[in-house]
Amino acid sequence: MRSLLQIDQLSVRFLSRPAVRGISLEIPRGASLGLVGESGSGKSVTALAVMRLLDDSAAIEGSITFDDVDLLSLSAEQMRRLRGRDLAMIFQEPMTALNPVMPVGEQVAEAVRAHHPEFSRRQARDAAIEAMDAVALPDIARRYRDYPHQFSGGQRQRVMIAMAIANRPRLLIADEPTTALDVTVQKQILELLADLRKRFGLTMLFISHDLAVVSQVADRVAVMRHGEIVEEGSCADIFRAAKHPYTRALLGAVPTMATPLDQPLATLDERDPRRPDRMASPITDSRETRRFMSRGR
Ligand SMILES: Nc1ncnc2c1ncn2[C@@H]1O[C@H](COP(=O)(O)OP(=O)(O)OP(=O)(O)O)[C@@H](O)[C@H]1O
Ligand SMILES: [Mg+2]
Repeated sequence: MRSLLQIDQLSVRFLSRPAVRGISLEIPRGASLGLVGESGSGKSVTALAVMRLLDDSAAIEGSITFDDVDLLSLSAEQMRRLRGRDLAMIFQEPMTALNPVMPVGEQVAEAVRAHHPEFSRRQARDAAIEAMDAVALPDIARRYRDYPHQFSGGQRQRVMIAMAIANRPRLLIADEPTTALDVTVQKQILELLADLRKRFGLTMLFISHDLAVVSQVADRVAVMRHGEIVEEGSCADIFRAAKHPYTRALLGAVPTMATPLDQPLATLDERDPRRPDRMASPITDSRETRRFMSRGR
């Protein structure tokens, strides 16, 4: 049986400028793959290509197969049915993804209803509460009608995760889901994701620039640089004996308890000299993305 997600020779160019250069990756059912690399290495573009959320200026080559379905050949309508149901994604900044003027419980319920139009309001509400319970949002029956700004950053990220898992997706893509959070909250969210993975048998693609973070939720890691995969292996192997100098630099950039306090921290040159004008974040197909975020309304 093929892996749940199989990416073969994927290339993405923006106006002839390559962002992803012929990468191949696969994630077997139930496995969790971490994708790491410095800023601009092509991690988000890869994730958005899988979700088919890149805008029209992106020229995509290669193939992306999900559960034996060739995603790149699906119609927009077929893709919309998969997105949010079988394929879910958590973005870095929950505040931009949540609707500020809609109670959080209703937003999660909407996510359910978008893919289960046959559900009554009551059933959608029950499913939403179940998902919000699963992500350990405290006292959610009472807070169902609270608005996003009434929750902390970590709680809002939990709401996003609840929305993502409410329809029991088979693949969950998490793109830097903890970068905006402080360290303690980050740890809690990582534990939650690891726990949900076990409970629901989720297959996961977890993106981060931080190898230490990735190793908490992934079995294997692929290291990306300048749009290519430069190294791939189990977390343990990569930590024990990273082969590629770039991976070693990524590891070296993480201070440990043994790092002397007066030692300057290693840094990676974040700017790609070949693309000094690179943009801060990828441009997505805004109509599709908005539609996905608001679950088809
Ligand atoms: N719509 C676009 N048009 C042109 N170039 C783009 C577009 N979207 C992304 N890029 C370029 O593609 C490259 C990869 O970007 P991507 O956002 O995938 O990096 P990343 O690894 O996710 O970085 P970060 O860690 O900062 O999130 C960058 O050079 C970026 O400028
Ligand atoms: Mg990114």
